[in-house]
Amino acid sequence: MSDVKIDEVPITGIPSDKRITQIKNDFFEEFGTMPQFIVKVPGRVNIIGEHIDYCGYPVLPLALEQDILIGGKPIDVQELHLRNTNKKYIKYSTKLLSFEDLDIKADETGKPYWYNYVLCGIKGAIEYLNNEIVGGLQLCIDGNIPPASGLSSSSALVSAACLSFLYAQKVYPSKTEIASLCAKSERYIGTQGGGMDQAIAFLAEKYSAQYITFDPLQAKPVSLPENAVFVVAHSLAEANKAATNDFNRRVIECRLAAKILAVSNGASLDQKIINLSQVQKNLNKSLDEMISLVDEFLCKNSYTKNEVCDMLNITEKELNDIYLTPNTKHLSEFKLRQRALHVYKEAMRVESFRKICEDNFSNGSCKNGTNGSSHTNGNSGSLEPISVLGTLMTESHESLKKLYECSHVNLDRLVDISKAMNVHSRLTGAGWGGCIVALCPKEIVDNYIETLVDKFYVQYCNIDKNEALAYVFATTPSHGAVIYK
Ligand code: GLA
Repeated sequence: MSDVKIDEVPITGIPSDKRITQIKNDFFEEFGTMPQFIVKVPGRVNIIGEHIDYCGYPVLPLALEQDILIGGKPIDVQELHLRNTNKKYIKYSTKLLSFEDLDIKADETGKPYWYNYVLCGIKGAIEYLNNEIVGGLQLCIDGNIPPASGLSSSSALVSAACLSFLYAQKVYPSKTEIASLCAKSERYIGTQGGGMDQAIAFLAEKYSAQYITFDPLQAKPVSLPENAVFVVAHSLAEANKAATNDFNRRVIECRLAAKILAVSNGASLDQKIINLSQVQKNLNKSLDEMISLVDEFLCKNSYTKNEVCDMLNITEKELNDIYLTPNTKHLSEFKLRQRALHVYKEAMRVESFRKICEDNFSNGSCKNGTNGSSHTNGNSGSLEPISVLGTLMTESHESLKKLYECSHVNLDRLVDISKAMNVHSRLTGAGWGGCIVALCPKEIVDNYIETLVDKFYVQYCNIDKNEALAYVFATTPSHGAVIYK
């Protein structure tokens, strides 16, 4: 370890493994020189707390072993050269301009180019440095997080690029500072994400999930049951949240719901209320009480633009300019009630989940034993803690499917196959495709994976058994970002 501070991204010697060797070789082939450093940023799976980070509520993800690796070398000229070890990703070079001039454009179908995520991280870093940058950078990227799978490959790429750039500029922000910077930087892609993915990317610790709270950003390790594992299974439906307006639509529906709840309960329109958690704080209510307020003030299943304008006493132009994003301005209806109900109930589930873990497991062990004799707190009655955790995950999925409408038939099928084996699961990440995460008792994990392979991948998706094994895996909580040098 070098003399970096404890709250900075750790810097350690370069380990020798196959992917590191590959990246070094590719770097040499592309640039005729060796990388000076390699950064590693993990993907994540969110255990519970979906679509609530951008509403200001805590979430509970863990870092995966799959990651983005970037080999980097500073150069004298103010240029950026990007290469990927996967040759399907095209080469890209650009002059390094001021952050205001660094343009990030999607392709003609509106889908971002792979390197746009790198540019987001670099643009954010240049902005953070007030355009005071020295020289440029050569980067070679390698990733093994399946893309468009809801496992945060994009955020890991943004974060790894931002970290590489700042490190090359000899700037070492704290982990929370760079996590917040990366969350902001990723919005240059056009989606209004929260900060969960970037927070876990930097604040993760091995062997535990993290309870992440926002404003201010903090992470607290959460011990998980020792006798169960979290299994991730890909639905084979791609989920690229920057390619459609589904994600932003949910974000603005939540913002509008927050504003209407605030105004209906006495706040003035110009009071700064940006999310559902702020309304709760301002009104000094419990989550249960917020749910009653939603029932009272957001009772319709759908609101037109005019109705929203009337409730807020604003013009359509004000609604478009102040509240909507470029890709949501054309929307004509908003499901405010369903989204707000999901958020408040999901926030409650996160609290219950964390409390059960805190009360029952420490350092990966089950305090009350694992043989069915345990009793948890009031929330769980006399049930096994793991089964209560599982029920919370199942409820989360139901809510994401019905109230948030961000599931996919393939995800639902995976959840149903799991249910038939008494394994609780839910979609993880933004949804509309991507992966499920399942809480599976250790003693049946092999059987569970085999059943998913057979019933979902082979029988339903018609893919080969060996190929299928690449899409389903048991996770081990990994650590956060590292710099190797
Ligand atoms: C994406 C976003 C996160 C979060 C999840 C849904 O991964 O980047 O901030 O909103 O979706 O929970």
